[in-house]
Amino acid sequence: MSKPRIIQNLALVGFMGTGKSSVGRALAECLRFDFVDTDDLIESRAGKSIADIFAQNGEPVFRDLEKMVVAELSTHTRLVISTGGGLAANAENLAHLKTHALVVCLWASPETIWERVRMQGHRPLLKTPDPLAKIRELLALREPFYKQSDVLVNTERRSVKEVVQHVLHQFHSAHAHR
Ligand code: S3P
Repeated sequence: MSKPRIIQNLALVGFMGTGKSSVGRALAECLRFDFVDTDDLIESRAGKSIADIFAQNGEPVFRDLEKMVVAELSTHTRLVISTGGGLAANAENLAHLKTHALVVCLWASPETIWERVRMQGHRPLLKTPDPLAKIRELLALREPFYKQSDVLVNTERRSVKEVVQHVLHQFHSAHAHR
């Protein structure tokens, strides 16, 4: 029999622009948990921005830093963890998160994602001639991983508040059924 999971944290996964940071901050406030963002942790560990890590060290180094941060977080409790869009597209990271957190994936269509991120210029993976095509391609590759989350929440035509209410409900019922 597998070891019972101890859900003491809440992790938000999903593509860029699905609202992980804004939903995560609001959830942390409601639950009186601390909020952490894996990209912020990586930037402070590396002493440089995500864009600089990609440009100077390359994506594989960034992905190793993500794995390191995931391992560190497993010893913490009462956290809402917002993850970078590619973090959960790795079976090991996803499995690690599930040992201590309810993993909730925020979902949106490529077109909605592009509408939400097009005015922001800081994402290295979208610095390409056809960002919408890139979003479609990456989302299709990542979908099988995202779908292994405990809860999948469609954020299309839903306000941050509505998404937060829905996730809170799921988190409370996961606690109740432990
Ligand atoms: C990435 C998403 C970004 C950041 C990095 C790579 C990805 O995070 O981790 O630019 O691979 O999708 P957000 O999802 O917070 O934008």
